[in-house]
Amino acid sequence: MTETWDTIADWYAERVRTGSAMHEFARDVLLDKLPADLSGQRILDLGCGEGLITRALAARGGAVVGIDPSPRMIGHARAAEESGPCGALYAVDDGCSLATVATGSVEWVTAGLSLNNVPDLAAAVTAVRRVLAPDGHLVFTVPHPCFEAPQARWGDRGGGTPGRIVGNYLAEGFWRSANPEGARRAGNQHRTLSTYVTVLVEHGFTIEGTAEPAPGARVVAEQPLRAGLPPFLLFSAVRRGCPKGRCCGRR
Ligand SMILES: C[S@@+](CC[C@H](N)C(=O)[O-])C[C@H]1O[C@@H](n2cnc3c(N)ncnc32)[C@H](O)[C@@H]1O
Repeated sequence: MTETWDTIADWYAERVRTGSAMHEFARDVLLDKLPADLSGQRILDLGCGEGLITRALAARGGAVVGIDPSPRMIGHARAAEESGPCGALYAVDDGCSLATVATGSVEWVTAGLSLNNVPDLAAAVTAVRRVLAPDGHLVFTVPHPCFEAPQARWGDRGGGTPGRIVGNYLAEGFWRSANPEGARRAGNQHRTLSTYVTVLVEHGFTIEGTAEPAPGARVVAEQPLRAGLPPFLLFSAVRRGCPKGRCCGRR
């Protein structure tokens, strides 16, 4: 069976909700770049999955909408909202179009480990730009492209020393992990660092920060070989005026 995010949604929700150190680390890496108090702020959580980050944003006082193209993921997110309401809203939508989200309607877009799943990054960043108010923020994480490239794996780095074998970094495009226990069996769009930077700049975003946080103690306890390797790459960017001849024509 060829897996998709929808077919692995039950597995993913169970994994996240039973306390996955890696997913909680990923959430905290992203939340670290947002204000502790989000009262009065409107937020879109793009690729929200079962709602791990969406709920945390709502807990900080934000008015949050989570979107995801997987109906089953959104079903899990809505079920969590019903059993423990925090005010988060959810919609089935594609990050490449954001058809359910009004133009200029949010101050923040967050995207935790989801922009590495969209098939067309330029379309997604165009859509993000459209829904953001002027000077709105985009904060997102992706699996670190240097260490999570196609065919990256754990192996012998030489002399019997186990470590990360870097995959084919320059092979941009869709690839699927053969690991039956990994989320990337549903597939992943690999892109280089320069592609992420270029798309942001070409769509009128100013990159305010990047981060490659060292894995936390819980992550290393679960996966000791991860010590010294950042699992995620974070970008924090601000929507600026429309670059000439491109984008949406709005300031
Ligand atoms: C690793 S999960 C992350 C979910 C959530 N943000 C979290 O941190 O737990 C990746 C998510 O990206 C979503 N995704 C896949 N294609 C997408 C697209 N075109 N637009 C938006 N999200 C997409 C998947 O359905 C999945 O829920």
